[in-house]
Amino acid sequence: MQTKFLLDENQMPKYWYNLQADLPKPLPPVLHPGTHQPVTADDMEPLFPRALIEQEMTTEREVEIPGPVRDVYRLWRPAPLYRAHGLEKALGTPAKIFYKYEGVSPAGSHKPNSAIPQAFYNREAGIRTLTTETGAGQWGTSLSFAGSLFDMDVTVFQVKVSYDQKPYRRAVMETYGANCVASPSNLTEFGRKVLAETPDHTGSLGIAISEAVELAVKDPNTKYALGSVLNHVLLHQSVIGLESMQQMEMADCWPDVIVGCTGGGSNFAGMAFPFMGHALRGGEKSRIVAVEPSACPTLTRGKYAYDYGDTAQMTPMTKMHTLGSGFTPPGFHAGGLRYHGMAPLVSHAKELGLFDAVAYTQRQCFEAGVLFARHEGIVPAPEANHAVKGAIEEALRCKREGKEEVILFNLCGHGHFDMAAYTSYFAGDLSDHEYDDQELAMALSGLPSVKS
Ligand SMILES: Cc1ncc(COP(=O)(O)O)c(C=O)c1O
Repeated sequence: MQTKFLLDENQMPKYWYNLQADLPKPLPPVLHPGTHQPVTADDMEPLFPRALIEQEMTTEREVEIPGPVRDVYRLWRPAPLYRAHGLEKALGTPAKIFYKYEGVSPAGSHKPNSAIPQAFYNREAGIRTLTTETGAGQWGTSLSFAGSLFDMDVTVFQVKVSYDQKPYRRAVMETYGANCVASPSNLTEFGRKVLAETPDHTGSLGIAISEAVELAVKDPNTKYALGSVLNHVLLHQSVIGLESMQQMEMADCWPDVIVGCTGGGSNFAGMAFPFMGHALRGGEKSRIVAVEPSACPTLTRGKYAYDYGDTAQMTPMTKMHTLGSGFTPPGFHAGGLRYHGMAPLVSHAKELGLFDAVAYTQRQCFEAGVLFARHEGIVPAPEANHAVKGAIEEALRCKREGKEEVILFNLCGHGHFDMAAYTSYFAGDLSDHEYDDQELAMALSGLPSVKS
């Protein structure tokens, strides 16, 4: 009875995988916020170094992972794949459940898979300062860690509600030498504007992105890094699925169902896209399920339309599933899933019918996470609990139908900095938020009008 499926360091992928090469229909173009024309590489230059812009635009199937990035990846990669024997037994399911565990990284999640190459390419381009936003604190921690390795200054705008909920995330960022600021802040024009209108604003990822982008645009020596959504971030995360494919072969299994949670879409894409591409090239097909919170239901209830990536509407417009860039979700604990939009590539794949999406409330997800912890030992991040919930639902369906399917899910992070959320859950203090159609329609009424 094997539990862990481990790869040697020399089996770590040497190339990232790009789903765009295998799609039957190309991605709609990214539009300039002023002209509404497709953006050029030059338009993106104030924010990103050339190498990342090229990765953002490429449709090549494979992009080589630079040696220095692989050297850092080796600190925790290849990440383990586990067979969830304890959970299977607790559920009494005939299904075989596997999970890829990304919580073994120094930050505790999948986020350093992209933070390391982003810091590397910026440093190669001579940049010394990076700005970013963070919701759960996982991305901010990851970029702070990457900044410390590549000797760069990092300023992190942490969504206020999460800044207050998670003081130890801030302490870790500071340990890595970064400057962590609650957003909205007085450091930027946009932050000051939001605070003038709403002094006790709890913040949102859209606002924090606007603040980080503003600092980068104003200083030629500062660039911006984003922890999700963009094509190059999804590309970097493909190491998750590429390793999992090798590990499933070691286990002599292939997933019938793949489950991941979605905030901006990067860990989900990282796990699912290599398998999706395999199927699009004629290989075995897996059913793929994205799980999102009912309190921020981008894929299940958002509109597929052009929208801005941030609240101040400074970023280019992308076609994506969105709740509207002015949408401020309630301060629920899966801070990493509070983004108003979804990665354009994930949204496009959804429109092409390449996967299904479901939404669960936070209490349902905590319940699943606690069951998982009690039978597998790992306490998942609140975001990861959504994937756990999705996998459990699939396993229970297999039990009802008497099917021995293979279920694979991505356990994208541990919850060691999220124990206040677990405490609130046990105290019965968490509430669930579901929107009525009118509330969602209001947030969507501010979408830019774009001829498509
Ligand atoms: C642990 C964890 N999981 C998931 C997410 C959501 O991001 P994404 O959908 O890009 O994986 C975050 C974002 O901060 C996170 O910290």
